[in-house]
Amino acid sequence: MISTSSRIGAAVAAAVSVVALTVVLAPPASAATPLRDLAAAKGRYFGNAMTAGDFNDAGYRSLSAREAGVVTPGNEMKWDATEPNRGTFAFARGDQVVAGAVAAGQKVRGHTLVWHNQTPTWASNLSATELRSAMVNHITTVMGHYKGKVFAWDVVNEAFAENGTRRQSFWQQKLGDGFIADAFRAARAADPTAKLYYNDYNTDGVGAKSDGVYNMVKAFKQQGVPIDGVGLQAHLVVGQVPSTMQQNIQRLADLGVDVAVTELDIRMKTPSDSSKLAQQAQDYTKVVNACLAVTRCVGITTWGLSDNHSWIPGVFPGEGAALPFDNNLQPKPAYNAMSAAFGTGGPTTTTTTTTDPQPTGCTAAYRVTGQWQGGFQAEVEVSAGSTPVTGWTVTWSFVNGQSVSSSWNAVVTTSGGAVSARNADHNGSIAAGSSTTFGFVGTSGSTNSAPSPTCRAA
Ligand code: G3I
Repeated sequence: MISTSSRIGAAVAAAVSVVALTVVLAPPASAATPLRDLAAAKGRYFGNAMTAGDFNDAGYRSLSAREAGVVTPGNEMKWDATEPNRGTFAFARGDQVVAGAVAAGQKVRGHTLVWHNQTPTWASNLSATELRSAMVNHITTVMGHYKGKVFAWDVVNEAFAENGTRRQSFWQQKLGDGFIADAFRAARAADPTAKLYYNDYNTDGVGAKSDGVYNMVKAFKQQGVPIDGVGLQAHLVVGQVPSTMQQNIQRLADLGVDVAVTELDIRMKTPSDSSKLAQQAQDYTKVVNACLAVTRCVGITTWGLSDNHSWIPGVFPGEGAALPFDNNLQPKPAYNAMSAAFGTGGPTTTTTTTTDPQPTGCTAAYRVTGQWQGGFQAEVEVSAGSTPVTGWTVTWSFVNGQSVSSSWNAVVTTSGGAVSARNADHNGSIAAGSSTTFGFVGTSGSTNSAPSPTCRAA
């Protein structure tokens, strides 16, 4: 019996008594297919930031409606917009963005509840006790208003300094380290259905600042602080996409949170020329591929969509041209590159799902997540059936001479083409109906068929 799947999903966990080998190649995408559809076919979303004013620009509005499945309000849900005076809430502009998004069949990401910028002085001047209570009231009221209309919130924005310690904002100075956890607890109570994100910039690759965020999220998960995701803003510079972006996304995902690229733009010195635009296209490809390579990277939002709707020239004089469309709303090489990466390229191309005819207590799904000349990266999702698993071993045989070079989240041994992967100390136990993932980097020739793994519970 053969089952077909282009992505590992819940259905994999449910599959039993099936021996399956599947190789699915996404159909070639035409450049005319909107990014929102290409991303959706990969189980991701593509979005862009829109201000309320942007909805009055008919051409831009329809470009966003066509390309983006998600909208983030550029300014309209920030504190200065939603609570300009204490206890007086103003939702008209935020509501305009929501209405515009709904009209275009788009979902809305909320941005942002607790930030040191665009927060009125009445708040930053409060005493610690008053500030804490104002923060909880703000979160409760704003999230309450948008309950059911906003699927994810940047609860706290930009709270880390470049060296990985907490930014010395008025929040930090008055409320101390606990304010972020307090904000997330208030957010969960305000709307238990919304995904709650911590969002920051210069945290896209591995480094001191992203280490700080990583350690905070790890501590939150250990302490039961409700956090669902990390937003990587990705305000990047042409030619400087961090080489560790995928690794950084993966390590956050391994903590059990989603990751989203939330404010992507890749700026250059202006004027642009064909070689800068070509480099920018490669850079956009890298970002899309880094996200597609990690199952829990849920989507990519660009901060604006065309170069005439960008914050960059106003803040970085002499720089700009950072977005996938130009000033005339025409697609740039960066757009075609994203289209190719989401549609035809990108690593999520092969999946095999196998179970043993004899129930073995677990199933394994093998997926190639990256492929390059001479090598590849793959992930294997190990799922428990209706009973919990306390240890597991996944085995398979490579048939095209592939080999494993390095692995994570499993103890891998090989003998010729035969591979055996046993659980690591931390991931042997899998609750009923749940799963865990391990991965590896390997060598391969031009043919890299996905093998059929067998899983056996201890
Ligand atoms: O609303 C006033 C208007 O009344 C006044 O006439 C005008 C004069 O300059 O300013 C208007 O406010 C501007 C506001 O955007 C709304 O347009 C502010 O000056 C301007 O500073 C503000 O910039 C925003 C910036 O955040 C503020 O930090 C950008 O539009 C917005 O795109 C940008 O977005 C941030 C994300 O929220 C967080 N990550 C970084 C990103 C880029 O800075």
